[in-house]
Amino acid sequence: MAGKIRWGILGPGTIAQKFATGLKAVPDAELTAVGSRSVERANSFADRFNIPQRHDNYRDLADNPDVDAIYVATPHPFHKACAMLCLEAGKAVLCEKPITMDARQAEELIACAREHNQFLMEAMWTRFLPVIVQVREWLADDAIGEPRLLTADHGSRKVLSIETLEGRHFNPELGGGGLLDVGVYMIALAYMVFGTPSKITSLAHLGQTNVDEQACILLGYDTGQIANLFCAIRTETPKEARIIGTKGSIHIPRFWEATSATLAVNGKEPVHIEIPFKENGFEYQTIEVVKCLQEGKLESDVMPLDESLSIVQTMDTIRDQWGLEYPVFGSVFATSQDKDTNQATSLNTIGAVICPKH
Ligand SMILES: NC(=O)c1ccc[n+]([C@@H]2O[C@H](COP(=O)([O-])OP(=O)(O)OC[C@H]3O[C@@H](n4cnc5c(N)ncnc54)[C@H](OP(=O)(O)O)[C@@H]3O)[C@@H](O)[C@H]2O)c1
Repeated sequence: MAGKIRWGILGPGTIAQKFATGLKAVPDAELTAVGSRSVERANSFADRFNIPQRHDNYRDLADNPDVDAIYVATPHPFHKACAMLCLEAGKAVLCEKPITMDARQAEELIACAREHNQFLMEAMWTRFLPVIVQVREWLADDAIGEPRLLTADHGSRKVLSIETLEGRHFNPELGGGGLLDVGVYMIALAYMVFGTPSKITSLAHLGQTNVDEQACILLGYDTGQIANLFCAIRTETPKEARIIGTKGSIHIPRFWEATSATLAVNGKEPVHIEIPFKENGFEYQTIEVVKCLQEGKLESDVMPLDESLSIVQTMDTIRDQWGLEYPVFGSVFATSQDKDTNQATSLNTIGAVICPKH
């Protein structure tokens, strides 16, 4: 693909707004179309971001001949179906994280991309941030010696109420819980530093809606390296990462959206870096996709598909340890009315038991 990459957005919700904003700082890219399940939401998003073409369903977006690449931004249970719809229609796909709900879905999705010779990448935006690129360079240059320990946390205290059940964080039918929402960032960071773990140990508290409200995860490696991770949706935590090596350490505040980091080498003055985003940080993953497409690549070397699959496999193992299974939701291609009925039924069931205890 040469020249400008023409983007479509599928599922114009919270994160899609950030993607659209970030796209302004991406050379060789333009926002051409948006697809929503509702004509009103498609129009209002398109008006806000000056998007010329709007569709009131996802299939028409996937079939739009003026679109080269589609950003899939629905809640996680719908990533696989939506991404496959686009791949089968001949579009490159940048799919929000986690790439799918589980490894079986990830295998099917990746097989679909390969069968149709289409580009696919998980939108693990953290990995492309300039600060994280610098961290990788420090590690490759042996700046802290051999990394031995990673600690990382990402916990926020979200309100649990009848109203917030409509959102995806507490609702099992929308893939709720901390692991798939923010735990995936820390697991991906551990993969970046240490690779695939050989031991996985974890403990979670499943709350009243039966999703993980807080969890501790330990990943172990044959070399004795350890990642100690904590994620939560009901507990506020400092949200930082530390990589501790044999010669020093790296501290990354707000590591998943990092704009700064400190390298401390034993016996030397610490080096502090600050690299503000050009726009909002979402531009860097999109720049990677544009570059890959222009070079004719079908996946990114920085966030390869086998790694996305392995990350989901690790999360499957963790969820098995907790006994956390997700219900199967109805078709994402259902009408708005079907969706409202489906969701109302499940939310009423969950809402009946909600009475926050803490
Ligand atoms: N990279 C990041 O920093 C980051 C941050 C937050 C979230 N995310 C990821 O982005 C994805 C979307 O998160 P979000 O917070 O943007 O979600 P959201 O606002 O709740 O939903 C996104 C959109 O998905 C569409 N959708 C399709 N089927 C749906 C259903 N059954 N129920 C609800 N919405 C449905 C809706 O658009 P229409 O109905 O208009 O089509 C909705 O606006 C998640 O997988 C999440 O992990 C990434």
